[in-house]
Amino acid sequence: MEKFIINGGKTLSGKVKISGAKNSALKLMAASILADSKTILRNVPEIEDVNIMIEVLRTLGAVVDVDVENKVVEIDPGSISSYEAPYELVRKMRASILVAGPLLSKFGKVKVAIPGGCNIGSRQIDLHLKGFEDMGAKYSIEHGYINCQVDSNEAGAKLFGTMVNLDFPSRGATENIMMAGCLADGQTVINNAAREPEIVDLANFLNSMGADIQGAGADCIIVNGVKSLDGTDYEVMPDSIEAGTFITAAGLCGDRVEIENARWKNLEIFYSKLKEIGVNISIVDENNISVDAPREVYRPTNISTLPYPGFPTDLQPIITVLLSVVPGVSIVTENVFENRFMYVDELNRMGADVKIDGHHAVIKGVEKLSGAPVRSFDLRAGAAMVLAGLAAEGSTEVSDIHHIQRGYEDFVKKLRNLGADIRKVS
Ligand code: EPZ
Repeated sequence: MEKFIINGGKTLSGKVKISGAKNSALKLMAASILADSKTILRNVPEIEDVNIMIEVLRTLGAVVDVDVENKVVEIDPGSISSYEAPYELVRKMRASILVAGPLLSKFGKVKVAIPGGCNIGSRQIDLHLKGFEDMGAKYSIEHGYINCQVDSNEAGAKLFGTMVNLDFPSRGATENIMMAGCLADGQTVINNAAREPEIVDLANFLNSMGADIQGAGADCIIVNGVKSLDGTDYEVMPDSIEAGTFITAAGLCGDRVEIENARWKNLEIFYSKLKEIGVNISIVDENNISVDAPREVYRPTNISTLPYPGFPTDLQPIITVLLSVVPGVSIVTENVFENRFMYVDELNRMGADVKIDGHHAVIKGVEKLSGAPVRSFDLRAGAAMVLAGLAAEGSTEVSDIHHIQRGYEDFVKKLRNLGADIRKVS
């Protein structure tokens, strides 16, 4: 089984360039189904989740060509003949559910395996399904699959635009319903919509295909259905969570690290929290951030994760590792997922002093972490274990690294280029 071996204590310095955003690229790939012609996607990260989405699209019958070297993925949906996202792919990657909105909008039907839970929570899709029902679809659940189609006997019947009120600003539900509205008859208004930068990237992508979407980035999104959409040529936005991961690594054990393509405006609350802690972080320009060696002893702080523009839940494990070596007591509260502290037991095996009380992690800073064999429970928890290994004394073995390889492009190579002593072994 592959693992990372890290000899901690090295000082990081140099430059790292952030890759395309996983949590945008996957949606743009799904959205390409809506077009009547080929889409060219650029700056697509070479990660496992992208490979799975390519498999999903090919299973539907789309022609997908990949130019790995230039990070380009070309998707031609013209030959799609199946409307089923199979279990063996959906269980690997929950984001496969995002082909539902496009398939429903364009073909009026979809069969998708119910995504299981994962190591951070139950990951419901009730808000997606309720939105589709509001738009005139009906669904049944059989043998672990959702069969969903437009509720009409009329051949070629379409979804209809309507008002959809989300109980929670779910990113996936917002994305699926926004895509479902693109070819629906009439106007769809999504209230209490998610506001992440990746939602804006998806809306910009859809509009570049000829969609008519306004308000993305705010909590009310309006989608005016159109007759058809054309393929487009589009560059995926940089990955804010990858940027936050490297900024935190630099704050933990950096000297001078420059992070290119870190669109800091997508990280404002994260940035302000790091400043509160005392991380010596500076904005070089709107797309570049630098982190220098600390000028002062870091201070504890309290963090509550919330949907954007609140503190991103995906950086919760990452910042907890930083706080675990900050003198004093910090409290991190996880409000988005019900079970996103599983990694804490692994962190405590490295000498951290973190106690979980419901949705709260009470972190007492320790002098130093010590290297140990630890597991990755999910993508961001795995990255957090790597950061802990970088800061720890001695050697750390991180196993189950397939989780990490789902979402971080060239993670080991980028860290080694900054001076980290990390290698992958089988
Ligand atoms: C996206 O997941 C991201 N994944 C997650 O990133 C991220 O943690 C999450 O948003 C929150 O920011 C991708 O974009 C591929 P949600 P998503 O729908 O869309 C509940 C990573 O590490 N909910 O906003 O699934 C749900 O159970 C991953 O890159 C319902 O109850 O997130 C969860 O508690 C991890 N019913 C909360 O909402 C629904 O129908 C947030 O879910 C939908 C969601």
